[in-house]
Amino acid sequence: MTSREFARAHSLALLAGAILMAAVVGAVIWLPNASRATAETKERGTPSMTQRILARPDEPLLPIQPNVNLDAGKVELGRALFHDPRLSRDNSISCAFCHDLARGGTDRLPKSVGVGGQLGTINSPTVYNAALNFRQFWDGRAATLEEQVTGPIHNPVEMASSWQEVIAKLTADPETSNKFIKLYGGPPSAESIQDAIAEFERSLITPSRMDRWLKGDDRALTPQELAGYQLFKRYGCVACHQGANVGGNMYQRFGIMKDYFEGRTRVDPADLGRFNVTSREEDKYVFKVPSLRNIAATAPYFHDASVNSLHEAVSRMGEFQLGVELPPEDIQSIVLFLYTLNGEQLQ
Ligand code: HEC
Ligand code: HEC
Repeated sequence: MTSREFARAHSLALLAGAILMAAVVGAVIWLPNASRATAETKERGTPSMTQRILARPDEPLLPIQPNVNLDAGKVELGRALFHDPRLSRDNSISCAFCHDLARGGTDRLPKSVGVGGQLGTINSPTVYNAALNFRQFWDGRAATLEEQVTGPIHNPVEMASSWQEVIAKLTADPETSNKFIKLYGGPPSAESIQDAIAEFERSLITPSRMDRWLKGDDRALTPQELAGYQLFKRYGCVACHQGANVGGNMYQRFGIMKDYFEGRTRVDPADLGRFNVTSREEDKYVFKVPSLRNIAATAPYFHDASVNSLHEAVSRMGEFQLGVELPPEDIQSIVLFLYTLNGEQLQ
């Protein structure tokens, strides 16, 4: 066993232990300081976060607030690029086509539709708070927001274009080109396009009522919502959905307690998750744990859009990730809590 494998096995064992204890003892024990530290270092974009003393230091979730130290000019340019169909081969599709900011940052389709009506392979995640994820994409294949941008531009079933084509089109437009010259000191390049879009995405942070509660406002949640949060902790959801993005800071297998894909007649490559990146057997069906912020606005659920209702998604998480059949009233209570993660400015 290499030290990396050992570390992985060790952390899986820790996780399994955490889930078991949470279920058996009915108490939250998953709160190692190490995971909090990891979550906080991911938040370099919001330095005020790390400097502030946490009002509720024992909570597995961390409050967020809008990024304040962004370059406003770059954010505006990035917003324009995000909505610019010239980033696609036939000028038909922008990033916003699949990440509609008025639809929770998604297309609300089971699978996205790209250039020429082509069907994608996986459900589109939200771009809201993506800046807080430790990696991008369901399988984590992009390390940063900047790196992520190249993906959809080149993906034949998404924008089906190339940097060469995109840069040529934007450079030929004096108004756009001048904005790049002003902000980046040169005509559009892959680096400056990536940088502007990523800067815009860093502005898509959506504080919610839960953040007000995490910052110490007892009245921010109703007793019912708070009860839902207690269940979310007690059942062990927080073993995976934790930190500032209520997810987005680790990989986990989908189907820890039970095979989620059993009985499917055809293996969908998208279901293999992180295996597609590493080719390691143990990474089959492993995904980045998704953020649960704005989750009520981003149906359908799971990478394969196999579930339409949030109640059903919570129920399956109990069954496949925790090995418990959640009673309907507990599901209802957890769903009530999940609604408190909806960004207030999006409502
Ligand atoms: C045709 C639809 C489509 C278009 C156009 C598109 N995306 Fe996506 N986006 C997706 C899908 C589907 C995924 C998930 C892919 C995966 O994980 O393999 C995704 C993933 C992402 C993620 C990762 C989020 C996460 O939580 O992992 C970000 C960020 C993102 N897109 C931003 C963009 C930007 C910026 C553009 C424009 C340059 C863009 N997208 C264009 C459909 C699209
Ligand atoms: C062992 C880790 C783990 C635990 C525990 C866990 N989840 Fe998840 N959760 C995941 C992973 C991984 C996914 C992504 C599955 C996929 O689509 O491939 C996910 C997906 C979800 C989704 C759908 C997200 C989306 O964008 O489609 C919801 C909702 C959810 N979890 C809620 C919960 C709740 C509520 C609990 C507790 C009852 C819970 N989870 C427990 C790992 C976990």
